[in-house]
Amino acid sequence: MKVAFEVNGKALEVEVEPRLSLADCLRDVLGLTGTHLGCEHGVCGACTVIVDGEAVRSCLTLAVQAAGENIVTVEGLSRDKGLTPLQAAFRKHHALQCGFCTPGMVTTAHALLSEEPDADAERVREALSGNICRCTGYISIVEAVLEARTAYRTAEGES
Ligand code: FES
Ligand code: FES
Repeated sequence: MKVAFEVNGKALEVEVEPRLSLADCLRDVLGLTGTHLGCEHGVCGACTVIVDGEAVRSCLTLAVQAAGENIVTVEGLSRDKGLTPLQAAFRKHHALQCGFCTPGMVTTAHALLSEEPDADAERVREALSGNICRCTGYISIVEAVLEARTAYRTAEGES
């Protein structure tokens, strides 16, 4: 089937099998391997991408379900020059170790702060509660997201 959508600001059309997941489409068809696959059944959050502003599990979404949508992956949350405020906060707070969970953490945090730049620690923990990290213990991730709030209040966090 042909599917047309926008990925990281680019209008694209791809030919996919009807049962292909959005995660496999992004990684294998479009080469966007920043989206990670862990559990592949909706538990770990590593595959989270942003679809029309919402954090979505791309392992549980079919590529065809994303037709006509605006998709943002972790690659779309980077800048050519320098780190974004969210990335800089992750680095400052040592919010990643192996980095496997990081794309899902960053996309989830971006979706949250874009809507709720005043989210408190409890809300941040709640939003990230579906994202598993085996390395950091979460405290540093929450601290990074809380620090990045300032940038989202001024729209500087938008990539
Ligand atoms: S790979 Fe999608 S939630 Fe784990
Ligand atoms: S940094 Fe290793 S799983 Fe989170």
